[in-house]
Amino acid sequence: MLLWGQWLSGAWYRQRLSGCCLYRCYTLFSSASASGLAKLLHDKLLQPLSIFCARIVSGNEIADNRLNLNQNMGGDIMAAKKAVKKTVKKTVKRKAASKIKDPVFETVKIERDKGITFLIMNRPEKRNAMSPQLHMDMNDAIDYLSIDPATDVLVVTGAGKAFSAGQDIKLYFRGTADDPAARAKARRASNAWRWQKLSRFPKPTIAMVNGFCFGGAFTQVCACDFAIASNTATFGLSEVNWGIIPGGIVSWNVVQVMNYRNAVYYATTGEPFNGKRATEIGMVNKSVPAGKLKAEVMKLARLMQEKSPAAVRYTKEAIRSVRFMNEPEAADYLNAKSDALKHVDKEDSRGQGMSQFLDEKSYRPGLGHFERRNKG
Ligand code: COA
Repeated sequence: MLLWGQWLSGAWYRQRLSGCCLYRCYTLFSSASASGLAKLLHDKLLQPLSIFCARIVSGNEIADNRLNLNQNMGGDIMAAKKAVKKTVKKTVKRKAASKIKDPVFETVKIERDKGITFLIMNRPEKRNAMSPQLHMDMNDAIDYLSIDPATDVLVVTGAGKAFSAGQDIKLYFRGTADDPAARAKARRASNAWRWQKLSRFPKPTIAMVNGFCFGGAFTQVCACDFAIASNTATFGLSEVNWGIIPGGIVSWNVVQVMNYRNAVYYATTGEPFNGKRATEIGMVNKSVPAGKLKAEVMKLARLMQEKSPAAVRYTKEAIRSVRFMNEPEAADYLNAKSDALKHVDKEDSRGQGMSQFLDEKSYRPGLGHFERRNKG
């Protein structure tokens, strides 16, 4: 009953799993499998039913999975052996970047390098300050790239010497001051791409902070899975310097990546800090000399390309989501997420990984990743 109540009231649960009601019931009962009745229902009724429904209902993600019943029933080693036999060495055929006709935007640029897509805020003469138009363009570009099969990793960066100088004080603030509808539209677009869409982007995302990064631009840095900065990038919660608070959701973002003392300090002083300091306080993963920034970002992006895309996606979603859950919610969610991963992973990463370690002895999971031979 408790779990049932959680399911009814838990918006988080409904949001996180696929749209199929019966599939939710399946994951719910999976987590209650300690009870005999639940186990019986799970084994005899819900598991076959959920697999049937998953095939029918969830066309994009679940329908073309390899549903490995042996694996679900505990035959992991057998499944791993079969997976090796089934494994066909495939190379992912990609269109050359020059052949992809990306849409053209007024304030945003898309560049490509073998599966790595650079989404570039492109108003260098205004230090990539975010105008309402830039928000609209970024929204459209992220929608387009989120379903782009040629994007394995997304890198967000800025043209010229800035990452982004934050909201455009002239066009975003003054320009919409007397037009509440225009302000509301710009604010909605601004929050949608910088947080909702970017933080839920299905592929790994890297913020490449190449220069000035102020105010509202902190949100897209925090939304990305990783952030790498130039040592000489200049960060600042500069809102206080011109009489406003870190609004939008900037204050909420910074207390998640840096500790409370630093968040209060930098937000109330407006003191600028460089890439090295940004690393020390958790704002970015690392900083490197400006001349090595792109190479460092590419190194991480290429590493992401080598890992199982389904495992990476589910891992980043899990880490992001559990932050806002209590322990029982997190345990239940992670059980369901683990079960779901087996169904959505077209490459059977778990089977490949297990077999290459246990049977082939060709790698050690503690020291590196398995070789992806089943690229989907
Ligand atoms: N909003 C509107 N315009 C901006 C801007 C912003 N956030 N940041 C830069 N610009 C504009 C400048 O007004 C200037 O426009 P102009 O050429 O028409 O005069 C142009 O971009 C270049 O800026 P400039 O200040 O001359 O460049 P700089 O390299 O000397 O300094 C910054 C760069 C980023 C340090 C400085 O522009 C700045 O402090 N910007 C505001 C940053 C900020 O506080 N953002 C938070 C907003 S919530």
